[in-house]
Amino acid sequence: MDMFLKGKVAFVTGGASGIGRQACLTFASEGANVVVADKQYEKAEEVAEECKKLGVDAIAPHCDVTILEESSAAVKSAIDHFGKIDILVCCAGILRDSMAHKMTEQQWDEVLNVHLKGHWWLCHEVIPHMKQEKYGRIVFISSTAFKGNRGQANYSSAKAAMVGLAKTLAEELGYLGITANVVAPGLVHTPLTDAFIKSDKSKPMINSILLKRREDIGPLFGTTQDIANAIVFLSSDRASYITGQVLVVAGGAYKIA
Ligand SMILES: NC(=O)c1ccc[n+]([C@@H]2O[C@H](COP(=O)([O-])OP(=O)(O)OC[C@H]3O[C@@H](n4cnc5c(N)ncnc54)[C@H](O)[C@@H]3O)[C@@H](O)[C@H]2O)c1
Repeated sequence: MDMFLKGKVAFVTGGASGIGRQACLTFASEGANVVVADKQYEKAEEVAEECKKLGVDAIAPHCDVTILEESSAAVKSAIDHFGKIDILVCCAGILRDSMAHKMTEQQWDEVLNVHLKGHWWLCHEVIPHMKQEKYGRIVFISSTAFKGNRGQANYSSAKAAMVGLAKTLAEELGYLGITANVVAPGLVHTPLTDAFIKSDKSKPMINSILLKRREDIGPLFGTTQDIANAIVFLSSDRASYITGQVLVVAGGAYKIA
């Protein structure tokens, strides 16, 4: 099989579950070594073991992205072990939904700290190594909610800011051939969305999906593999002329304005 990421090293936050886990496994199946970075340390270890079974090397350093020293130490562990980081995927995420006028400062800070500040800091730590190698692929996992979503002022703001961060890095790092892009998933079935998908509240969202796939190809809503495919593509040399872009992976369902 053509393993188009053979020998590359991918550092994936949120790698213990859902989209991040599937990205780790897809990287491994394409030949990349994997750093599974998550605050759920035991689950991250399990994903690293699954990656190893696919024939690559994998580690799972402790990495709560809101603890900046822990992120720095995780990057150091990856460099000590693999000598480089080619790919950074910023996928860790949480929800603390509330209407804007009822949202607490804690709900605001927790969401912004994981999605935005935590991932900016990881870029801060990883970019010097990418500059040294004159190679890098940075992929942020935003959401179709970056265009606004009722009850998600914190999440939507963080996901929109990730687009600004990616576009800024594209400007700052393009001269070295380092790319920074965004994948914006629509509704994907993961532990984060399980309760919502099973509730009646998800029906209007599911109905708005343009693509009605044949059942043997996939469900109406997105799968973690749909998103991992986009992440792995943007992380590869097949996307070496794409930077500062937002790839919406939502079966065509997203807000136009
Ligand atoms: N599932 C969807 O429908 C959907 C849609 C759009 C965007 N997203 C985004 O995709 C990403 C992954 O979501 P998912 O659905 O796979 O959720 P998930 O809950 O299955 O996985 C999220 C992972 O992030 C980890 N995490 C949370 N806080 C962390 C921290 N401080 N440090 C390190 N790791 C941390 C969790 O431990 C978990 O393993 C998130 O950024 C989410 O916002 C998901």
